[in-house]
Amino acid sequence: MFSLPSLSLLLPAISTLASGLAIPHNTSSFQIQWKNVTTNLDFGTLHVPIDWDNRHGETVQLGMYRHKALKPDQKVGTLMFNPGGPGYNASVYVQYAQYAFGPDAYNYFDIVGLDTRGVGASSPIKCDPEIYNERVSMWPSTQSELDALVGQYQRLGESCLEMSGSLVAHMDSISVAKDMEAIRLALNDGKLNYLGLSYGTLYGSTYAELFPHNIRSMVLDGNMDHSQDEISYLTVNGDTMETGLTRFSEWCAQNSTCALHKTDVLTVFDDLVKHANEHPIPAPGCKASGTCRSDVTGQELQSNIGNLLWFKTAVGLETSWADLAGALYLATQGNATALSSSLATSPSSDVYQSTAIHCLDWTHPPNSLSEIKYREELSNGTTPHIGGAGSSRNECIGWPIAQKYHERRVHIRGTPQILQTNALHDPSTSYVGASNMHTQIQNSVLLTRRGDGHTSYFQFGETSRAIDAYLVHLTVPEPNTVLDS
Ligand SMILES: *[C@@H]1O[C@H](CO)[C@@H](O)[C@H](O)[C@H]1NC(C)=O
Ligand SMILES: *[C@@H]1O[C@H](CO)[C@@H](O)[C@H](O)[C@H]1NC(C)=O
Ligand SMILES: *[C@@H]1O[C@H](CO)[C@@H](O)[C@H](O)[C@H]1NC(C)=O
Ligand SMILES: *[C@@H]1O[C@H](CO)[C@@H](O)[C@H](O)[C@H]1NC(C)=O
Ligand SMILES: *[C@@H]1O[C@H](CO)[C@@H](O)[C@H](O)[C@H]1NC(C)=O
Ligand SMILES: *[C@@H]1O[C@H](CO)[C@@H](O)[C@H](O)[C@H]1NC(C)=O
Repeated sequence: MFSLPSLSLLLPAISTLASGLAIPHNTSSFQIQWKNVTTNLDFGTLHVPIDWDNRHGETVQLGMYRHKALKPDQKVGTLMFNPGGPGYNASVYVQYAQYAFGPDAYNYFDIVGLDTRGVGASSPIKCDPEIYNERVSMWPSTQSELDALVGQYQRLGESCLEMSGSLVAHMDSISVAKDMEAIRLALNDGKLNYLGLSYGTLYGSTYAELFPHNIRSMVLDGNMDHSQDEISYLTVNGDTMETGLTRFSEWCAQNSTCALHKTDVLTVFDDLVKHANEHPIPAPGCKASGTCRSDVTGQELQSNIGNLLWFKTAVGLETSWADLAGALYLATQGNATALSSSLATSPSSDVYQSTAIHCLDWTHPPNSLSEIKYREELSNGTTPHIGGAGSSRNECIGWPIAQKYHERRVHIRGTPQILQTNALHDPSTSYVGASNMHTQIQNSVLLTRRGDGHTSYFQFGETSRAIDAYLVHLTVPEPNTVLDS
């Protein structure tokens, strides 16, 4: 919740901004270099300061794809898109815009997908894969396990700094929001239209607080609430993930397509976790490919089911609950390949980015065994099936770069109507977080999707159509509208 010390730590950043020195503000000082890729697709690069508080210092090259409006004579403007992660490539979605977005979006908007700084097409950071691949317990129960966890992430962070330079210390969401403003200025195509999913909602809300008057439309789909302190993040996130698992088990009990139909899925899961904590379950497919660990511990199982809970029904290439059921069934047969953790295969692997970003945007938990045990006790008590898997923040305990963007309530005032959407049973971004965010944005409508699954735009249902209609016509649903798809 609201915490005074965090607020005062952020204030200097805001006041530098207000002075106008640290913000992008001059159209002619930012120029994107475009290259044609295909008829409707360009690739663009833009140089911006690594540190927005040091405008004349070293720069970083941002990379973005732009899909041009298919009905250019009826174009509404440019839509910037971010899929979340943090660290997911926006550019991939924009390259396949006609599959990923609704017709209203790709007909009437140029869609720009910026890979955020340090990610994908934007000067991706490099780190030491061997350090990343060391195996530690994320919930240590002894001092030596804690030392191993802290030591690994400390050395990993140091390797990133050494191999990638100061960019690693400037991948926070405030820097990204300023990059978005620099792109908007360089495009010179009117006010910002923005569609942010999941972690992309944090970029959106950060932008909205900094540049409320430069927005035409903004959709926050699957809301990250940056006012949650570390304990509240652990429990709220844990609860929404645990609820996802419970709803998955209920679906399984009722649906004969589930590979674990007619079993008590939660008991099966608990038994697997217990067994795997004593004897990790082999992952023969990983042993063959080398891209994931050759076996899986119980803790890893608990956290790796997270992404597999995201979509009840498959969306594009994503996995569905049926796939999760299949993966758990195979694990009971001694093959946990689909539930194994990714390994870094090179210094430019994309596995490092989320840690670097998380540890700049969120509080690092205290480096103390008793504090960790307290948190695990809390998690075991409130979310007994997934334990502490609701938060991966423990990787930040030893991270050598201090948090930059401190948790606090945002005060978003002076924007046009912002559309928030959230599924009631989103297993990753809790409806609690969306409701909390709603109280922090003066002019917003929260559209509820009554259903499962993480974010709503790519479910292609009524919510997705309401988003497209808002983007084109600025029509917002009545307050407290609930849709079924
Ligand atoms: C904007 O930047 C251009 C080029 O860097 C410069 O010539 C111009 O004076 C600047 N305008 C303002 C208002 O600062
Ligand atoms: C890119 O292609 C478009 C039409 O396909 C053309 O109008 C434009 O001039 C090209 N731009 C460059 C930089 O080649
Ligand atoms: C992201 O983009 C980079 C380069 O553009 C590519 O190497 C990488 O594989 C992409 N990652 C994903 C997850 O698509
Ligand atoms: C069972 O699940 C599948 C896949 O999600 C779905 O298509 C089907 O409608 C479900 N059947 C029932 C009876 O719920
Ligand atoms: C293990 O499961 C994976 C699917 O997750 C499958 O591709 C692989 O063939 C299986 N391996 C064995 C040895 O059964
Ligand atoms: C939490 O539960 C796990 C089993 O899933 C157990 O290994 C661990 O010791 C428990 N932690 C605490 C602090 O009770």
